[in-house]
Amino acid sequence: MLEDNWTGTSTVPSRSLYPHQWSWDSAFIAIGLRHLSPLRAQTELETLLAAQWEDGRVPHIVFNPSVPLDAYFPSPDFWRSSTAGRAAGAPRTVQTSGIVQPPVHALAAWLVHRADPGLSRARGFLTRMYPRLAAWHRYLLHRRDLGGAGLASVVHPWEQGMDNSPCWDAPLARVTPAPARSFRRADLDHGAAEDRPTDLDYGRYVRLAADYRDGGYADGAGDFAVEDPSFNALLIASEHALARIAEELGASGTARQARARRLTATLTDRLWDPARDMFLCRDVRGGGLVAERAVSGLIPLLLPDLPRDIATRLVRTTESAHFGLGTSTRLVPSYDLLGEAFDPHRYWRGPAWFNTNWLLERGLRTHGEHRRADALRQAALDIAHSSDFAEYVDPYTGEACGATCFSWTAALSLDLLHCHTEPTAVRELKGGNRG
Ligand code: SER
Repeated sequence: MLEDNWTGTSTVPSRSLYPHQWSWDSAFIAIGLRHLSPLRAQTELETLLAAQWEDGRVPHIVFNPSVPLDAYFPSPDFWRSSTAGRAAGAPRTVQTSGIVQPPVHALAAWLVHRADPGLSRARGFLTRMYPRLAAWHRYLLHRRDLGGAGLASVVHPWEQGMDNSPCWDAPLARVTPAPARSFRRADLDHGAAEDRPTDLDYGRYVRLAADYRDGGYADGAGDFAVEDPSFNALLIASEHALARIAEELGASGTARQARARRLTATLTDRLWDPARDMFLCRDVRGGGLVAERAVSGLIPLLLPDLPRDIATRLVRTTESAHFGLGTSTRLVPSYDLLGEAFDPHRYWRGPAWFNTNWLLERGLRTHGEHRRADALRQAALDIAHSSDFAEYVDPYTGEACGATCFSWTAALSLDLLHCHTEPTAVRELKGGNRG
């Protein structure tokens, strides 16, 4: 399946629904591919990073010019990266979107390097990746610090990756939807309408993206700005990985490790909700925490510097009636089982995804929860297989939703087959000083 989805330089998430290269998909795909072909895993990340903009942003889609324009919406003629993105330094040779996706890339690059350090050194993989990854983090930590506290904000729900999460309902309500007749969705040609976002949501996604484009992709002016726990946790995990990469290249990683520690403290100060025992999103334009429980608020479990009691409370929350892990569900759902907006089939409003469960499995191991991690690992492997490597599944039944033969589901299953151990999970980020 990963062979079928390989284009020669990168992997499509799904031949039908997502026929180009997607940013965070490629990072997860590389993490799995490293066990099959470290060279392909390196190439996957190199292809994506080659489309980086001069301001440091890594675009969420790199378009394949041989795919027809109507196969995916919004297509390159919507984003117009090489003209609208000129001031922000969009590349001239490839067409990309102008928004970003979660920064899993430095973590992926480090794990890919570790799979075959000899090949990586011979090809100068990290030497070439490091300046690009550093510029990417700089962009997020400076241009995207829209809340002024040091965390990165997303300016579109697609940037956070969990596109249709109920967390966005309140911040999106301020956005006037683009009229339905002004665009034609391509996703409904391949996915069931009841599994996908509604037309009203799409109208808002289109309006936000068009406004960003029409402002030359300059940051700071848009109606939507949210500090999200998962996006920032992945940035912090990647900052730890970038410290390891610097050390591998003979430089010091101390300043980056210290920054990762500081950002972990900021994340806890800004987004931890002691009443709900989990992290929440902060609506930077509306000024407050968004009172919705979504899987994004559990992902900081990944962070090695998380205070012990917060890690313990997060684990308890995954097993509470809101997420049901080990009782009503075998994989952690994307949204609160008891939430008003819960829907077991609709995009990011309830179904379980494999990437978020892979991140939680790592988080459990990072905090010494091996028995729980083993159960989650086994559930992910079983359900990936029985669902034909679905994009997402009903959290109660494991029934397949969205696309099947989904690349990150296959890639992360491969990674889980090469079981993590606690010392490895921690050492990969912390330089072997713990565990
Ligand atoms: N996941 C979004 C889509 O449906 C945006 O990348 O296309």
